[in-house]
Amino acid sequence: MHAFYLLSVWLHLLAAMIWIGGMVFLAMALVPVIRRLKDQEVATTLIHETGMRFRWVGWGCLGLLLVSGTVNLAYRGFGWTDVWSGRIVQGPLGQVLGFKLLLVAVILLISALHDFLIGPRATALGQADPTSLEARRLRRQASWLGRLNLLLALIVVALGVMLVRGLP
Ligand code: HEM
Repeated sequence: MHAFYLLSVWLHLLAAMIWIGGMVFLAMALVPVIRRLKDQEVATTLIHETGMRFRWVGWGCLGLLLVSGTVNLAYRGFGWTDVWSGRIVQGPLGQVLGFKLLLVAVILLISALHDFLIGPRATALGQADPTSLEARRLRRQASWLGRLNLLLALIVVALGVMLVRGLP
């Protein structure tokens, strides 16, 4: 049982590293380089193709975080009855967990909005007319949602560390 728990924590950390590392790479290296390209059509296609490929890596990691996080909680003695009874968010560490899960829910919502609605619409409009104002507005929105998600992810990491090592 302990080995299974260690495997679950390992997967939890690995998924967080791959997901957050990928977002940092996209935001700090790839997107700024692509934006400097003179050919707008190539730039739009590159952003679209990279986004589509990373989308599934991101959702795979989020799924793994949910499953491994649930296993970690089970090892710490929490089950679904504690979710319904509210025991899971009692006490100072319960509040950290509650806040963490709330932010995870917001991240899932923002990711869905970014990956399945705003991002694809920005690409479609950009491919039809790269100078379109609406396409530019949607691109800016997608970019801000991505940055907000990264910021929330970093806060979730801090809450995860506090969960294990206690409050400051
Ligand atoms: C965006 C998603 C998430 C990220 C980035 C994340 C990140 C982390 C990090 C960095 C730790 C700290 C490990 C340590 O300090 O040793 C941690 C621990 C933990 N997380 Fe998450 N987490 C996420 C989602 C979840 C979810 C959805 C759950 C519950 C369903 C969860 C439950 C836990 C638990 C119980 C621990 C303690 C693990 C242990 O027993 O050592 N996490 N998480």
